[in-house]
Amino acid sequence: MFGTELDALAARYPNVVIDHVITEPDTDWTGPTGFLTADTIRSLVGELDNRMVYVCGPQTLYPYALGQLRALGQPRKRIRFEANGAPSDPAAQPHWPADVDPTEQVTVTVGATSFRTPRNRPLLDALEDSGIRPEAAFRSGECSLCRVRIVKGEVHTAEEARLRLSDPQFGYTHSCVAYPITDVEIDL
Ligand code: FES
Repeated sequence: MFGTELDALAARYPNVVIDHVITEPDTDWTGPTGFLTADTIRSLVGELDNRMVYVCGPQTLYPYALGQLRALGQPRKRIRFEANGAPSDPAAQPHWPADVDPTEQVTVTVGATSFRTPRNRPLLDALEDSGIRPEAAFRSGECSLCRVRIVKGEVHTAEEARLRLSDPQFGYTHSCVAYPITDVEIDL
């Protein structure tokens, strides 16, 4: 993601150094691979020496990233996380219906599969809990990779979602920041 743009920045500014670490590389990739482990970070940047570390990307990976950085002895106060992501309390948003309990469970149906999930769990996370893995990236409502169609039922789409103008009309939402208010049936 943004590989070309980042490389262009590095080419332009000598104090910017970019290392790409690819989890599932193409066969011609010769750089570092796998998860960004403490060992990989150490081999690429050496000692962190109390430098500030900024972590961005899917929030579900933050605990993992924190563990790797702490294993390198990085103080917690020198690690910052991107503020984006699914809202942790969707019911606090103004358009959450006042009479709907966010902790109650509803049924989500995808094709022949149905499962129960609390209303305040993002649809994308709930799908993954059930072994269904739609395409997704940043999980903050902006990239639209996790777009799904609501065939039946009602979801609360968080304010963070950057939907196309026509999405609501045709029932599309971004599952990373959408919460099932009623039983829903969705199309991936
Ligand atoms: S993962 Fe990008 S909008 Fe949901």
